[in-house]
Parts: sequence; C-alpha cells; structure tokens
Amino acid sequence: MTEPDFSVDIAGIRLRNPVIAASGTFGYGSEYAGLLDVSALGGICTKGLTLRPKAGNQGERLCETPSGLLNSIGLENPGIEAFIEKELPRMKELGPAVIVNLAGEDVDEYAEGAKLLNDAAVDMIELNISCPNVKAGGMAFGLDGAAAAAVTLAVRKAAPCTPLMVKLSPNAPDITAVARSCATAGADAFSLVNTFKAMAIDKVRRRPVFDNTFAGLSGPAIRPIALRMVWELYDVLRPKPIVGVGGIACANDALEFLMAGAVAVQTGSATFARPGVMAEIIAGIERYMRQNGFTSTAEICIR
Ligand SMILES: Cc1cc2nc3c(=O)[nH]c(=O)nc-3n(C[C@H](O)[C@H](O)[C@H](O)COP(=O)(O)O)c2cc1C
Repeated sequence: MTEPDFSVDIAGIRLRNPVIAASGTFGYGSEYAGLLDVSALGGICTKGLTLRPKAGNQGERLCETPSGLLNSIGLENPGIEAFIEKELPRMKELGPAVIVNLAGEDVDEYAEGAKLLNDAAVDMIELNISCPNVKAGGMAFGLDGAAAAAVTLAVRKAAPCTPLMVKLSPNAPDITAVARSCATAGADAFSLVNTFKAMAIDKVRRRPVFDNTFAGLSGPAIRPIALRMVWELYDVLRPKPIVGVGGIACANDALEFLMAGAVAVQTGSATFARPGVMAEIIAGIERYMRQNGFTSTAEICIR
C-alpha cells in the first residue's frame, strides 16, 4: 500500500504536514523546545513583527472567558532587524517553515519591513491586517477592501520573491470584499481568522479590564464562526489556498477545517493550556488519513 503523503503546498512552500503554530502563541519556536518536538510541525508563525521594536500594551493583557481567551498584547516585539539578527537563524534551524507575521502602522512601514524579510529569505510573510489590539494600523487595514488592497500591493512589490499570505479579520463588515481585493492585489494565500473584537468589564473597579477597552477573543468560542468563514471564502478564493485558524484544539477540530476547504490549520490558544496539542493534532490527522485510505491531505476536503 502507498504511504500517505501528509505534506501540503502553500504558495509554492512545502510543509511536511498541515499543522502550523499561530502567530503570537508560540514565540519563535525554540521557546517550546522542551515541551514538544518542534521540528515535527508544518510551520511556525512568528509573533507580529514591526519595523521598530514595540513595548506592547500597558495593564492587563490576558483574560479568560468561558471557552475563550481575551488578549490585548499590543504587538510587543523586538523589531524586524533584531528578529533577523537574533531569532531567524535559530528559527531556520528548527525545520518547520518560517512564516513571519508582519504588522505596521502605515503602508510605508509595512513595505519597509517586507523588503527586509524578502532580503532575509524567510519562507513566507503572513500579512497581519487584522490585529485588534493596536491604536494605529493593524485591524484598520483589514476592515476595508481598498485599504487592504493598498497594503497588500505595497508588500507584494517590496517582497517579490516571498510567498504572501494575508491574515484576514473576522471583524470586517464584508470579509468577502476584503479577501477579493487582497487576491487581486497579489496575495498568494489567506489565513483566517484573527481574533474577534471583544471586551470584559472589571466589576470591582467598575471599568473595562483592558486599558484599550477592547481586546481580541480567541479559543473554542470562535471556532464555528471561523469554520463558517473558511467555508464561505473557499468558493470565493479558489484556487488560492486558505489556512484555517480559530479555536482548533484537537484533531477533530482540525479535520473540520480541512473538510471545509482549508489546506492547513493553525493552532494558537490551545497551546497555552496543552503545549503538546499540535503533536496530537498531527497524529490524529495522520490516523484519520490511514483509517480512510487517503494518500494525500487534499482528499480530506469535502468541497
Ligand atoms: C496571546 C495572543 C497573541 C496573538 N498575537 C498575534 C499576532 O501578533 N499576530 C497575529 O496575526 N495574530 C495574533 N494572535 C491571533 C492568533 O494567531 C489566532 O489568529 C487567534 O488566536 C485564533 O486562533 P486560536 O483560537 O487558535 O487562538 C494572537 C492570539 C493570542 C491569543
């Protein structure tokens, strides 16, 4: 019998399997080295990186909710140059595809950052136009088709040799229009979704928990909505690949996204509770493929 092929292709980059660590939840990979076999992952998305270092937000940054997690980190990161110098060489040695989550406050900053990443030969850029936790830039670009297209085009031009995956915001009034605009502007692939704009109130202090009032909701609470968005965008974006993200915490969750049309999945919040969860998801997908006699991951898709 033919051995199943667990690898997937995203915009010309071959991943050994369809499981990727989601941005902001896995550091730069080596932080998790003692907790699971990091080299077994398909890919690792870095924390959102900006041209200049960012200290992130003051005050509370995390708050648990039933079936979810609110975060307001505010893109704390060392800046792209420091990343390229200190973290990238180590990350490249780990084995999984190096996917750099790129953030910025304006189009020029995104483009300058993209050029540095292109020159550093990272495997892929994940364009973050969907972070709800910063005052300038971030999600603002992901809410509107024209703004999203402008930043996609600028990054495409600045990083012509690097596959470009755009990470969409579930908070866009019309996510389909944003996706279409980015596809036309040169996006090779899409990841969806980032966190949902949400909030919590501290009853004792009688004020919002987060200094920025709003935060981003992730975890199992968002999974069925993220799944619906992957399903709906599959027809719109085909043949561009979609990577599904949102509340994936076990192999069955991942399989739902792969059935809905995603070529790969990302896991974020679940890793905080169970650092080995992505290894379990990989094993579960492999088991499912063998049980069903599938020889390629594409056969999981029901679309
Ligand atoms: C603590 C935290 C930090 C995050 N930081 C980023 C980030 O820097 N860039 C980004 O695109 N997404 C970021 N995200 C969003 C995740 O990558 C992911 O899209 C989202 O959490 C949904 O997946 P999940 O439910 O598996 O966590 C962050 C999420 C969390 C929980």
